[in-house]
Amino acid sequence: MAAKNILVTGGAGYIGSHTVLQLLQEGFCVVVVDNLDNSSEEAIRRVVQLAGDAGKNLSFAKVDLRDKEELNKVFASKKFDAVIHFAGLKAVGESVQKPLLYYNNNLVGTITLLEAMTAHGCKKLVFSSSATVYGWPKQVPCTEELPLSAANPYGRTKLVIEDICRDIQKSDSEWKIILLRYFNPVGAHPSGCIGEDPHGTPNNLMPFIQQVAVGRRSALTVYGTDYSTKDGTGVRDYIHVVDLADGHIAALGKLFQDNCIGCEVYNLGTGKGTSVLEIVTAFEKASGKKIPLIMASRRPGDAEIVYASTEKAEHELKWRAKHGIMEMCRDQWNWASRNPWGYGSPESHS
Ligand code: NAD
Ligand code: UD1
Repeated sequence: MAAKNILVTGGAGYIGSHTVLQLLQEGFCVVVVDNLDNSSEEAIRRVVQLAGDAGKNLSFAKVDLRDKEELNKVFASKKFDAVIHFAGLKAVGESVQKPLLYYNNNLVGTITLLEAMTAHGCKKLVFSSSATVYGWPKQVPCTEELPLSAANPYGRTKLVIEDICRDIQKSDSEWKIILLRYFNPVGAHPSGCIGEDPHGTPNNLMPFIQQVAVGRRSALTVYGTDYSTKDGTGVRDYIHVVDLADGHIAALGKLFQDNCIGCEVYNLGTGKGTSVLEIVTAFEKASGKKIPLIMASRRPGDAEIVYASTEKAEHELKWRAKHGIMEMCRDQWNWASRNPWGYGSPESHS
């Protein structure tokens, strides 16, 4: 049987690059579309190297999703069997400062993509949603049926895109769509060759800890020590990026095998909650580095405890996260210590 062709938007980014590698290793042919707004072509080069022989099945197009003409050229170049849509802006604070940028990039980008898919008869989609759609959840673990809300423009783009997907599937039953709600992706490929390389000051916990460990920042600010949790700090469901990438392979399998799927949503998490201080302790153990802490007040908009119910993904996608917190910290440190400046250099980050 001929290899399936998958278009991956945002495939040069953190989660995208790990997923592309796994797709190649599973025998898929992949075309990445990315404008490199928050990533580097070096990630693509490293994925090709890591994939060995299968690296020849990857091609890259530097295209902004909102560029209809260029995007249609990509669709005209090949018949795609499915699209995995990672591309988007994701910094919550920035989305509050620049809402139009987020609505334009994430919503217009997605609509342009969906129009191109329709025009070219490709109606299978996996979309990167987020646990942010649960807001401050009324109960944990978060099941897929919990009420949804958006606390900021970034989260609102995820909610709106989820709704758009449900609407187009209702209007045309040929569409098969899986919405994946990621919890907190961390870690890196065990090779240490690809990982997360955020531009500017990291918003998320693990990249910040990593930059303290390599000496790029002096201390980690702990946002909130008075939560009703085991040690007073916020609790989240951290998931190894390699497990997350596996979840996409499982989702594609479902799209190709299940004729009745429609538009379905799945959480991708581990089902376990870990506090900020527990992560710090695990990272110190994995790296042998001391992480100086500054205790501070809560970060506006932060929930207290968020972790996933993983039952639906386990039953229906036959997928389950395999890595624990120590492996996440080990692989994060392996990537960080080999690439203290990510894909760049001190100059590129100044
Ligand atoms: P990332 O920034 O590393 O990757 C996103 C990629 O999309 C980047 O390479 C960027 O250059 C590209 N991109 C952005 N806008 C584009 C456009 N208009 N046209 C073409 N390319 C564009 O982010 P990531 O962590 O890999 O996240 C991937 C997806 O998963 C995003 O949609 C994000 O919102 C979602 N998500 C991420 C997390 C997380 O913690 N990392 C959690 C939940 C959901
Ligand atoms: C954040 C986003 C969420 C997004 C998710 C994954 C907010 C309000 N929410 O969620 O929309 O889907 O990232 O990209 O930004 N922490 C510190 N110090 C830091 C950074 C974080 O103590 O420097 C704490 C936070 O208070 C939280 C935990 O670490 O308790 C995890 O934070 P983070 O990595 O930003 O993820 P989320 O808060 O889950």
